[in-house]
Amino acid sequence: MKKAICLSALSLFLLGGRTVAQETKNAVININANEKVGDISPMFYGLMTEEINYSYDGGLYAELLRNRAFKDNDTKLDHWSLVQEGTSVGQIALDSVEQKGTALNRNLRLDIVSTDGKGRIGIANDGFWGIPVKANTKYTASFYAKTDADFKGTLTVAIESNDGKTVYVDAKVAKVNGDWRKYSVVLNTGKVEETTNARFIITTKQTGAIWFSLVSLFPPTYNNRPNGNRKDIMELLADMKPGFLRFPGGNYLQSKKLETRFDWKLTLGDISQRPTHDNNSWGYHSSDGMGIMEFLGWCEDLKMESILAVFDGLLLSRRSALSLDSLKPYVQDALDEIEFVNGDASTKWGAVRVKLGHPKPYNVKYIEVGNEDFFDRVGKTWDARYTLFYDAIKAKYPNINVISSAHVKTRMPDFEDIHDYFSYKKALGLAHKFDRYKRSDAKVFEGEWACREGVPTTNMLAALGDAAFLTGMERNADIVKMSCYAPLFVNVNPKAMQWKSDLIGYDAGSSYGSPSYYLQKTFSENIGDQSVKSSIENVPMAADTTEQLFYSVTKNSKSGTLFLKIVNVSDTTQSVNIEIKSDKTILPEGEEIVLTSDKVTDTNSITDPKKIVPVSGVAKGLGKHFTYSFKPHSVTVLRMGAKS
Ligand code: AHR
Repeated sequence: MKKAICLSALSLFLLGGRTVAQETKNAVININANEKVGDISPMFYGLMTEEINYSYDGGLYAELLRNRAFKDNDTKLDHWSLVQEGTSVGQIALDSVEQKGTALNRNLRLDIVSTDGKGRIGIANDGFWGIPVKANTKYTASFYAKTDADFKGTLTVAIESNDGKTVYVDAKVAKVNGDWRKYSVVLNTGKVEETTNARFIITTKQTGAIWFSLVSLFPPTYNNRPNGNRKDIMELLADMKPGFLRFPGGNYLQSKKLETRFDWKLTLGDISQRPTHDNNSWGYHSSDGMGIMEFLGWCEDLKMESILAVFDGLLLSRRSALSLDSLKPYVQDALDEIEFVNGDASTKWGAVRVKLGHPKPYNVKYIEVGNEDFFDRVGKTWDARYTLFYDAIKAKYPNINVISSAHVKTRMPDFEDIHDYFSYKKALGLAHKFDRYKRSDAKVFEGEWACREGVPTTNMLAALGDAAFLTGMERNADIVKMSCYAPLFVNVNPKAMQWKSDLIGYDAGSSYGSPSYYLQKTFSENIGDQSVKSSIENVPMAADTTEQLFYSVTKNSKSGTLFLKIVNVSDTTQSVNIEIKSDKTILPEGEEIVLTSDKVTDTNSITDPKKIVPVSGVAKGLGKHFTYSFKPHSVTVLRMGAKS
């Protein structure tokens, strides 16, 4: 980047047809590197997640079949169809034969009435907007089946094109007959042409009746976890180096009805033990493949702290919560949940976890009470409900941080979860929200925030708004301790999105980060452990008097490295004078990382995933007093090394 050398610049503008030279003053950022404002928490940047926009089913959770337990629709076999070739005749129907000892009480019944010996007959699943096929990849298919006395045959399991003409991979399952049994088969693709537009089928050429339940297909998962996550999306998350994961919601925690809340006890154990539930918060069924232990495994995989939200009686009707005197079982449920995640084998719920294959306690240190409890507009009992949960949790687990999801007065929460969704225009004002924040209030957890510009994922304008807001949080790290953007995920296929402007987009085959993703990744990779004293003068203003320049400064207290973040939202290059007071020498050469794009409406997508990414270069001419130029519509991080 070009370095400006003078304190002020001459700009030319037209006045009554004459060109006039006018002096404009550079903005000045004063940094006192010796004076700490606050400690930056290692959990400053984290992740927030819930089942929205097909975040897990059709997203992070690697299962490839949709409606695998036949529970998505009570009357129809959504996403399943009959395969019928030649003159073979058959039919499929939704049935409900119970399987003892499991939660599987729905099945697909296939009746093969007649076959011509050549034409296949069977069932097909179209996945979450297609089944992806990758070359040289191992897929694991499994299903439960029972047959009538007539069927004693072989089934062929395959992934093939929708017209059945190209078989990418297939394998036989012999001797399928008798009572309920689980069958598994491995499908190894070779050198196939990759696609996201395939179907999964199970076919035969023999007559009889077969009942299927829980039909599943998994590709390889991140860290090879059984029932695990998609590799590509986990890699994008790992690159962000998040400090924590907030789960399981969001609205997904609560839902519209008590019976459809996220009931953690119903998400334990093998997937055949999970009843699944209606995710009526976001309008589709949840397989509950992502259960409480999968969330915790995800935290282990990415070395994140868990922020576990517990249901506290507020339902999504958003008018009132369950009455205070009916909350006892839910307080107990929260205590059980904490015992499950943290208890040892001598405790009732700790022993359940041990039995499920995780002897070591997860050591969860953060519990959030509810979600957006202030939406309890009629009853307004959030203070009383928080108090109930807080007192019960602290009595048993005094060291656990208990987060409130509304502003409460009766107890001082360890953190208050505050949510901010805003437009680009609002972002510029919100950049100062925490400058004015009452320091005597609870420490802040920005548990959901986003500048909502761009669909389905955000654009460069959103990244500028995000950056302005984040600089405000970093500057006020004495009060803001944790932050996480929401929503994290969106499946980009039509009708998959319920909430626009999301961080990471994907289809069945690939995923990408939005400009907001790259912005956060850059910010979280370039942050010290302290925010330091700073001020700005001569802030450039737009005609409507909105500020055009935002900044934050943080310091690594061990090395002395300063991280100066500058957000130039104007459409002109801004020269800024940097004045640093420090007991160390600032090295003349450092690093600059710039995120920008030609148009603010530019974005990343499945077909152009890296159109907007941060670009690193050498920053020259640094010192205690220097001037630096910042591109129009850009976010720049200057990493400035220091020595004693
Ligand atoms: O992030 C989308 C939704 O916004 C969350 O589920 C809810 O907590 C908030 O209102």
